[in-house]
Amino acid sequence: MTATDYPTALALWQATEGMGLGAADSAANVAAFLARNPGLSVVAEQAGRLVGTALCGHDARRGTIYHLAVAAQFRGAGTGRALVDWCLAGLRRHGLTRCHIIVLAHNEKGRRFWAHLGFKEYNEVTLCSYDLT
Ligand SMILES: CC(C)(COP(=O)(O)OP(=O)(O)OC[C@H]1O[C@@H](n2cnc3c(N)ncnc32)[C@H](O)[C@@H]1OP(=O)(O)O)[C@@H](O)C(=O)NCCC(=O)NCCS
Repeated sequence: MTATDYPTALALWQATEGMGLGAADSAANVAAFLARNPGLSVVAEQAGRLVGTALCGHDARRGTIYHLAVAAQFRGAGTGRALVDWCLAGLRRHGLTRCHIIVLAHNEKGRRFWAHLGFKEYNEVTLCSYDLT
């Protein structure tokens, strides 16, 4: 994925159920994320059209995948798994040993997908955030 993919990626994210979008997803922020994590994020294309995305980065200790999405009409064909595999392979190359994801609790289908791929849920952990603005 490169910064030029942003407009079509954003359109996919906006059309995707279970996708939490916010100020962090501006074009400038996504471009900065890609620049900090070169080669780790990926798009899937079908006939030149963007049909899937995965943002992936790390902080040297843990990797994280964000915004895994496959356009509805292209699901069930292995694209989601291929995007995740790409991200995990990149994190392994960088020496990472664990990858986190954040899934909205009510996204049951998404949670089942991650579980199917071997991601373990930690129900005893609560995500806390502090607004810096
Ligand atoms: C989740 C999502 C990315 C899956 O994409 P996809 O291209 O349909 O997935 P794949 O075809 O690669 O499926 C990979 C495997 O997961 C399984 N799978 C897919 N969706 C599943 C689900 N909801 N529950 C359980 N297993 C599921 C497939 O059967 C397949 O199994 P296999 O490889 O062992 O045969 C897609 O449904 C999507 O974009 N959902 C909306 C956004 C979302 O919820 N993202 C994840 C949370 S952040």
